[in-house]
Amino acid sequence: MSQPIRHFLDLWKLEGSDLRAILEDAKARKAARAGWPKGKPDADAVADGRTLAMIFEKNSTRTRFSFDAAMRQLGGSVIISNAVDMQLGRGEPIEDTARVLSRMVDAVMIRSNNHQDVERLAMSSSVPVINGLSDKSHPCQIMADLLTIEEHRGPVAGKTLAYVGDGNNVCASFIHAAAKLGYRLNIAAPAVYHPDLVDLARAQAEQAQVRTTHDPREAVEGADVVITDTWVSMGDTDHDERLDALEPFQIDEELMDLARPDAVFLHCLPAHRGEEVTDEVIDGPKSLIWDEAENRLHAQKSILAWCFGAI
Ligand code: CP
Ligand code: NVA
Repeated sequence: MSQPIRHFLDLWKLEGSDLRAILEDAKARKAARAGWPKGKPDADAVADGRTLAMIFEKNSTRTRFSFDAAMRQLGGSVIISNAVDMQLGRGEPIEDTARVLSRMVDAVMIRSNNHQDVERLAMSSSVPVINGLSDKSHPCQIMADLLTIEEHRGPVAGKTLAYVGDGNNVCASFIHAAAKLGYRLNIAAPAVYHPDLVDLARAQAEQAQVRTTHDPREAVEGADVVITDTWVSMGDTDHDERLDALEPFQIDEELMDLARPDAVFLHCLPAHRGEEVTDEVIDGPKSLIWDEAENRLHAQKSILAWCFGAI
């Protein structure tokens, strides 16, 4: 019997052992090429001869460049298109798009406005599909974040992560991996921008240690890692209401001081200094944002390697 296709759609759908294997592979690959030119392929070049298609319905800097660089370092190549330039942008069904691309490439990454479209693409695809952010989740980002935490602070299992701000797609993927990798997750969000209740219910059923509060101070108290994200995500239309509701959730030095003395700060970027985080925190000594951004590359190489069955 043929193996199931290894889609990377959401962290809750994956085995904890696979997430762990991806993180360990990323650490090993990163160490093995320290100091090399960024365009030189890894010694094992596990994507040699393979092509990744990337479809973007939304803007991107990190995801676009890191997947492209990742495929080069794995010895493969990419084809990138904005959805608006494809027939998809004129209403061609995503299922037909999946069937066509499956005949031409070895994997597809999509950044989509609508999470259901990511699922529909995968359902009709005979090659792996990777979720490069949807309105509901951002699994590749959280793999890079967990890699960054482990590089600086050791195993995430047993650590306390505090997510403060909008209960958005980034927050969702932190919820999705909590039980799989054994970290505690404290979320502080306002009632109107609360995390997804289905995600929270699943986490509870999985016996994940996820708690929610409306009080940022309660969430951050004793945390090992403090995380936030933009208050206005791509596709959000209620800009002013969001800024009003989220103002008490800004990460500043006073809030950081409630976390452990060795706590670190993460933000997936792009950031809005003076909104969700102050300059002093994001540009301060506890901030790991540049390592976090670089780790998109390393984590995604291992996600791709997993999709291709190389780990
Ligand atoms: N963090 C992140 O996904 O960045 P981009 O939107 O630039 O891809
Ligand atoms: N929550 C943000 C993340 C951007 C990388 C958004 O969806 O716009």
